[in-house]
Amino acid sequence: MSNTIDTPFLRKPATAEHPIHELISERWSPRAFANRPVEAEKLHSLFEAARWAASTANFQPWNFVFATREHPEEHARIVETLLENNAKWAQEAPVLVVAVAKLYDFAGREHNSLYDLGMAVGNLVTQAVHLGLVTHQMGGFVVDKARELLNIPEGYVPVAVIAIGYPGSPDTLHPVLRERELAPRARKPLNEFVFEGSWQQAAPDANA
Ligand SMILES: Cc1cc2nc3c(=O)[nH]c(=O)nc-3n(C[C@H](O)[C@H](O)[C@H](O)COP(=O)(O)O)c2cc1C
Repeated sequence: MSNTIDTPFLRKPATAEHPIHELISERWSPRAFANRPVEAEKLHSLFEAARWAASTANFQPWNFVFATREHPEEHARIVETLLENNAKWAQEAPVLVVAVAKLYDFAGREHNSLYDLGMAVGNLVTQAVHLGLVTHQMGGFVVDKARELLNIPEGYVPVAVIAIGYPGSPDTLHPVLRERELAPRARKPLNEFVFEGSWQQAAPDANA
């Protein structure tokens, strides 16, 4: 691939048991970021990728509030929403994005906008790999603080914060985080979550 991660730093491609695309296997969630800004055109491409996600009835119930380190006050505001364990490393990320779902009723009941938002973020983090960027999503933030500090109105819910940047050296991390950074990535086997025909009926060849 021409434009994907080209870095002397850590890569942790998935140890996939069946072939998958490099853009999927190369995505992972590091905590070390290079001290290098993300170009505006790359940021635009990330949001453009999110824009073209599928969504229920094409409602596109996603919003993103981002801040870069070039605007320290805005960046610090998003850092302030994070739980301490996340803030420690994520404050070094050149870009922080708050992913927000719009809540609405569809077909007479509350729609699951989180699904659609997840589709959009899935596109964003995959596009990031293609652009040589790394991403780390976080649920560890205070929703009400995000609401207040970023002026997010009623009817919208902040769901995740995403740290984005170029990969950095694990040596810049606290030893505990460095250990996590270097740990292998693990996943459940397919037969624990893919069933054929009926619940808990493992697809016979899933782990072959
Ligand atoms: C919705 C969501 C919330 C997450 N929250 C946090 C978090 O608060 N802090 C953190 O360090 N990582 C967080 N992660 C990252 C996961 O821990 C990580 O994706 C998982 O361990 C798999 O590792 P990988 O992304 O490197 O494959 C989150 C990921 C997702 C998708």
